[in-house]
Amino acid sequence: MAVRQTELRPLGKSVGRKEDPRFIRGKGRYIDDIVLPGMLYMCLVRSPYAHARIKSIDTSEAMQAPGVKLVITGEDLAAMNLAWMPTMANDQQMVLATGKVLYQYQEVAAVIAETREQAVDAAQLVYVDYEPLPVVVDPFKALEPDAPILREDREQKSNLIFHWEAGDKEATEELFRNAPVVVKQDVRFPRVHPSPLEPCGCIADYNTATGKLTWYVTSQAPHAHRTVLSLVSGLPEHQIRVISPDVGGGFGNKVPVYPGYVCAVVASLKLGKPVKWIETRTENTTSTGFARDYHMTAEIAAEEDGRVLALRVKTIADHGAFDAAADPSKFPAGLFSIVTGSYNFKEAFVEVDGVYTNKAPGGVAYRCSFRVTEAAYLIERVMDVLARRVGVDPAELRKRNFIRKEQFPYKSPTGWTYDSGDYEKTLALALEKIGYEELRKEQAEKRARGELMGIGISTFTEVVGAGPSHTFDIMGIKMFDSAQIRVHPTGKVIARLGVRHQGQGHETTFAQIIAQELGLSTDDVIVEEGDTDTAPYGLGTYASRSTPTAGGAAALCARRIREKAKKIAAHLLEVGEEDVVFDGVAFSAKGLASRTVTMKDIAFAAYTNVPEGMEPGLEATYYYDPPNLTFPHGAYIAVVDIDKGTGAVKVRRFLAVDDCGTVINPMIVEGQVHGGLTEGFAIAFMQDIPFDEDGNCLATNWMDYLVPTALDTPKWETDRTVTPSPHHPIGAKGVGESPNVGSPAAFVNAVVDALAPLGVEHIDMPIFPWKVWKILREHGVTE
Ligand code: CDP
Repeated sequence: MAVRQTELRPLGKSVGRKEDPRFIRGKGRYIDDIVLPGMLYMCLVRSPYAHARIKSIDTSEAMQAPGVKLVITGEDLAAMNLAWMPTMANDQQMVLATGKVLYQYQEVAAVIAETREQAVDAAQLVYVDYEPLPVVVDPFKALEPDAPILREDREQKSNLIFHWEAGDKEATEELFRNAPVVVKQDVRFPRVHPSPLEPCGCIADYNTATGKLTWYVTSQAPHAHRTVLSLVSGLPEHQIRVISPDVGGGFGNKVPVYPGYVCAVVASLKLGKPVKWIETRTENTTSTGFARDYHMTAEIAAEEDGRVLALRVKTIADHGAFDAAADPSKFPAGLFSIVTGSYNFKEAFVEVDGVYTNKAPGGVAYRCSFRVTEAAYLIERVMDVLARRVGVDPAELRKRNFIRKEQFPYKSPTGWTYDSGDYEKTLALALEKIGYEELRKEQAEKRARGELMGIGISTFTEVVGAGPSHTFDIMGIKMFDSAQIRVHPTGKVIARLGVRHQGQGHETTFAQIIAQELGLSTDDVIVEEGDTDTAPYGLGTYASRSTPTAGGAAALCARRIREKAKKIAAHLLEVGEEDVVFDGVAFSAKGLASRTVTMKDIAFAAYTNVPEGMEPGLEATYYYDPPNLTFPHGAYIAVVDIDKGTGAVKVRRFLAVDDCGTVINPMIVEGQVHGGLTEGFAIAFMQDIPFDEDGNCLATNWMDYLVPTALDTPKWETDRTVTPSPHHPIGAKGVGESPNVGSPAAFVNAVVDALAPLGVEHIDMPIFPWKVWKILREHGVTE
């Protein structure tokens, strides 16, 4: 049950969400709700071909169509030096195609008209003459010597984007050479899409009188977007105001800058009018940042009893036509090298090859700390393969291999320093709560009757909170984050942060942190994010980084205010500063509990009665550069039953025990876990974006890219352990992604466990019923 916002000491309580009254009454304000006077609408013309030379573009008829104000092509942008834009992964991407197109649905022209309908109609009148070219959709074929070179703008003779390595190759090889047991498994993480309910969109509003551009955009990182826009357009950064209003879901989809954004800005600059562009669902699914698409091979070297020695991983990363992955600069494959997971490997060696294909660009961190989901899925899947090979129960195998509590801070063989964890405790709680032993007994009985029941475990480690400035930057901008707090004379607070939530509840949780530190209630604190003219600079919300970075900034900023408050309290109490104590609610004179002043008294005094020589006012700004990332973990267990007639998998139970350190708001954390598990469930059982040989995208909207309904979604059970982060100001670790990161392996492990008596060792996601049905048929289980 949610508690009232007026309670003092709110940290750790399920305070009701401040943002809900507006959301549940339909009063949120999203991009498409904003209508400006004289606003025009933009529609993009897109390529029907996955690879084709552009022979000519005829825009004359479209220009004559009713209401049309402007048509922009790649050649027009080239004349402004804007035909290409930088991606966050140090690549460049076409804004509007010049010369050729590289994927189906690529942006070719932009039509701006008085109404949305007029823009859509006129877009049909832009005639593009294409000459089809050979298409490459398979990343393995893209690496073959005779494959057509897709990116003619790059001076290279192959479609390889990058080769990246982590760990010690020689030491790993040595352990493999002498290992009693070696298991190997190919694992594919399909191409999926974050699919927020609200697609991408923006309004560019250039004011010809002031020279200021106001850019309303559904953005997870408004400050970073402003900097990129300034660099791309040449407009001075202080003349750009980015406003990210309520965001209808992001999940990583709203981190990159998309061609439509640049076109809307160019159109507004040219026409001196506001220009709105809102994607359709199909445009969102087919052209904006996809996620995953990793083809991985993992090998584990182990002792005969299943104790692991070394891990070797080779991966082909399909990035599509441009590497538009949203990774920190030094990490072309994100934080994938966390792939040794929760286990005490002596050595590991990880390689990733990034490859161009004729598909939409991306590689975004879909509810994932930059490729951690792929890593967690791979290691959790392959640990099960090992368990089966050595004949050890998968729970027992994990226990044998866990990094022990006393090993923290733990240095992994690929270079990460895990801050804290207690894997044994978390798994023990999960096993007890789900009734593991009874379930195994039930399974044995069912197997004897020929029924198919499976139990799948995933004991994953996450790495979130990018990040410490010594290692993490995006396009050179360091990844710390910020908070600014102003306490007004009546003790009411406005706090502004550099991150931008998309439904995670920051207006409540960050208010809780600040209220806790200042002796106020959540009701006294308003949290604002998403306006670059008012909020301090920050890198935004994705990769579960808000709590580890901005959450830390909020606590330390409030403590900065408390330091000054203490001086004012001493003045009001007429004692020395060293004699003032704060009990979380009020300041009192040591030994004289009856003489107290509250933050409200102090706030008033800060503007009316400060000690002599003190600067009036009560506000502070804090840029928090975290010393390390945080390492949440979890133990997830899925129980499934498989229908032998149809191959349908029923998730009968799913338990998620998470450890995200200190919990700010248990109800919000539970909500985050429910949402992430539902996404993980969809990835495991329903979602993939396939292409045919001609590069036609075969999942273009929610008719064939499936999104689970309430009816499809299993009932989630949750619990938690608490291992505080030793370096975070309040001990909190991120949590938003853990369920998406940890759950796919639990689902797949459960299905494989159910089918193990048939000799099945692995099934690639998504586990559609027909895939299971085919296996059952092949083994004569069903007709
Ligand atoms: O960056 P993002 O907000 O997506 O992820 P997060 O930092 O994991 O936070 C998601 C939500 O859960 C926020 O409202 C957090 O403040 C809240 N949270 C919490 O209450 N306790 C934690 N230990 C971690 C997150």
